[in-house]
This record gives sequence, C-alpha cells and structure tokens, in this order.
Amino acid sequence: MSLTEKFLWGASTSAFQIEGAYNIDGKGLATTDVRHVPEGMADTKVACDHYHHWKEDVDLMAELGLNTYRMGFSWSRIMPDETLTPNPKGLSFYDQLIDYLLEKNIEPLVTLYHFECPQALVDAFGGWKSRKMIDAYVKYAEVCFRHFKDRVKKWVTVNEQFIATAAPDLAMGYIEDPYERSKWIYQISYHVSLAEHRAFSLLKEIDPEAYIGPVCSIQVVYPATSDPKDVAAAKEAEEMMEFILLDLSVYGEYSPFAKTWLKKRNLYPETKPEDAEILHSSKPDFIGVNYYFSTCAKYEEKPFGFDTSFFWAADDCRIVPNEHVQKTEWMNMGTDALGLYDGMRKIYERYHLPLIVTENGIAVSEKLDEEGKIHDDYRIAYLKDHIDQVLKLREEGYPVFGYCPWSFMDVLSSHQGFSKRYGLVFIDRTETDPKECARVRKDSFFWYQNVIRTGKTV
Ligand code: BG6
Repeated sequence: MSLTEKFLWGASTSAFQIEGAYNIDGKGLATTDVRHVPEGMADTKVACDHYHHWKEDVDLMAELGLNTYRMGFSWSRIMPDETLTPNPKGLSFYDQLIDYLLEKNIEPLVTLYHFECPQALVDAFGGWKSRKMIDAYVKYAEVCFRHFKDRVKKWVTVNEQFIATAAPDLAMGYIEDPYERSKWIYQISYHVSLAEHRAFSLLKEIDPEAYIGPVCSIQVVYPATSDPKDVAAAKEAEEMMEFILLDLSVYGEYSPFAKTWLKKRNLYPETKPEDAEILHSSKPDFIGVNYYFSTCAKYEEKPFGFDTSFFWAADDCRIVPNEHVQKTEWMNMGTDALGLYDGMRKIYERYHLPLIVTENGIAVSEKLDEEGKIHDDYRIAYLKDHIDQVLKLREEGYPVFGYCPWSFMDVLSSHQGFSKRYGLVFIDRTETDPKECARVRKDSFFWYQNVIRTGKTV
C-alpha cells in the first residue's frame, strides 16, 4: 500500500513523557532523568506510569478508534550504557506493547529519538558533541530496525531537531559561554543530520518496505507589519529555525542563505570530505510536522548576541507576539489554525514529500470536576479548527496522510511539569503526588472518537 493511500487517525506521546519506571528492568539513566527539575515539579520517575498501565492505555486507544499510535522508544531502556549492549527486558517491554497494538489493529509509528539519550553517552564522550554519537545512534537504530522489522513499518528518526539540539542538557553538557554554546549547537545538529541520513539508508537495506522520516517543529513566522524589512525578517526566521534543518534532511545541504548566515557569524560546523556522500545518498519518505502556534518577526538591528532565541540568534530581527491571535493560559503566542495550513503548504512546496501531522494540541491546566469529569470544549474547538485545515489540504490534493493530536493522554511536559495538560485522556496525578495515575476520558476523547468514525469534525 502506498504511504498516502489510507488516512491515519492517530495520537501521540513520547517515551520519557509517559513511561516512568526510569531505573527498573535494566533501564539506564537518560539525559531527561538527570537534568535539574525545579522543586515541586514532576519529573520522569513516574510520569504517567505507562510502563505499568500500557495494556489499559492500548485498550483506550482501541476504544478511541485510533488506527495509528505515534510513540517513542527510550534509547536508554533499549541500550542502557556506553557499551551499547541491548537490554532484553527493555526490548521485551516494547515487544509486548507493539504486539498488543497490532492485535488491536493500531499501527505503531515509532520515534527513535525524542529529546533524550543515555546519559552514559554524554558522560563517556560528550554525547552529540562527538562523532562517536553518530555511530552509537546508528547502532541503536540498527537494533530497533532488525528487532521490530516485521512489526514496525513507519519510523521517525528525530523529533524536532530544532529543540532536541538547541536545549544543550538534552544532548550534551551545558556550555557557559554563549558563543561557544551556539557554535556547538550547530555542530551537534550537523552530527544529528549525518546520523539521520545513515539511518535512512540503513532502514532501506534492512527493510525496503518500511518508511522513515524526520519530525520537524513547524515555524510559521509572519511579518509583524508589511514593512519590507519585517517581511525579510520573517523569511529569515523561518529559514534559520526550520528550513535549515529540513534542507539537510531532504537535500543533504544548507541553502545558500543559511550557509552564508552561518559563515558570516563563524558558526558553520566542521565537516569532513566523506560527509557529502552520506548526506546526499539518502532521502526521507515523508516529513512529520509538529505545530502548536505561529509567531511574528520584526526587524530590529542590534549587536549580535546569542541570547535572543536559542539556536537562532539573530542580530537583525526578533520574534514578537501577534496581536491578531488569542493568547491562552500556556500559549503566549496565541493559537492560529490557519498557520498549520500555511506551514504545511510551504513545506510541501519546498520538498514535495508526503506529510503527516505528528503533534498538534493545546495546553490547559485541568482538574476533575465534582462528577470526576473534564469538559474540555476549548480543546475540542482547537482540534476542530486545526483538523479542518488538514482536511482542506487533503481536499486540495496535498499528500497529507495522517493526523495525530498531542497528546493521547496528559503527559509530563517537555520542561514544565504535569500541570500543563494536552491529553484526550486525563491522568489523575499532581505535580508531586503520582497517586494511582488513573485514566479518565475527557469530552475531547468522545469528540475525537466521532471524528475518526465519521471522518468529519461536526
Ligand atoms: C513538542 C514536543 O515540542 O511540544 C513534545 O515534541 C512536547 O515532546 C510538546 O511535549 C509540547 O511542549 P511542552 O513544552 O508544553 O511539553
């Protein structure tokens, strides 16, 4: 079956944000297990305790009607330390989960790398700072591709390379000096691109029928005004926060603009002659897109610093809020469904690859009401507006083959604890008390169930 033939109605999570069981059954510590968490904020130790609730979770997915589940593997559960020896108990956790998903006719879409790696690799050689990490990642990918070959047919190499490499404590040690930090961020991101291309090629050798692609964090940046300088600033921001990474994933090279930008600021990564062959000899089959909100850019000339935004440290513009969109409690840039349409079209027009929405959702602080329910009309409204844009793209003929809201259940936020909830299923726990992590279906669960059943949002 071709990639775009059947529409995938899914939902997403990632390993460290749900699994818990951070140090049992042979799992090594991940970078996300050891980083500093402010007092009073939940950490990875229990998260949603999915490690012990996986069967109940898959039953809920089946009840919801999902035909796809976008999930992550925890590298440190599969390979706990720098010897890169596979951990049988780690693999068997995913065996039982994947087997049960398939039994329920839910296809797994597996992310290999989602914001974390074994801390042992950072301790041993600096993580992605070293080219040794490229070989380590390829070895990890190979173990996963071979082990799950007959059961997993869709893979994601890296989730949001932009964030994964720009937050240094997730991928290497923290570097004090701002210039050095930026330099390393581009260098490690380049290493990730090399690793990703090797994984593309490797999968085609091991399982030519399987599909693989990156997941990007879409950056939809509007000009703050029609001043041509603001228009140029917005274009520059999209180029340096999004296309710089996708160009490497798809074309294996930087655009002339990005190359010049990096060289001018002495941030161009060190390369080796053999890299070009690796980068040019493979291509992804699809691009996954994560979208939450859009932003605006305004021209502003200032001394070159590295503090404006991590990764993208501009000296001639800054990101500002958009006064035409509604801010929400956790989303200070506001929400904007049209941005999803705009961002996906731009990506298709540049790369001509099939697309899937791998994350999209709204964060809200929620508590069970007296009847033990969550009436989340705001989430239903957000998802409806965004799904309508996805359906519009499909009607227009764009090869969009799936939609996965973030998140299937409430998860540990990437860096803001457990109060910030995105799920269709409520997890009954607080920041500091995991309680039993009971699962409660929100109103949005039933609404999405009907969308999947009918293919319509009304
Ligand atoms: C995406 C990530 O960037 O955004 C998820 O892929 C993350 O892992 C999601 O949870 C929402 O961000 P946050 O910071 O609210 O958890």
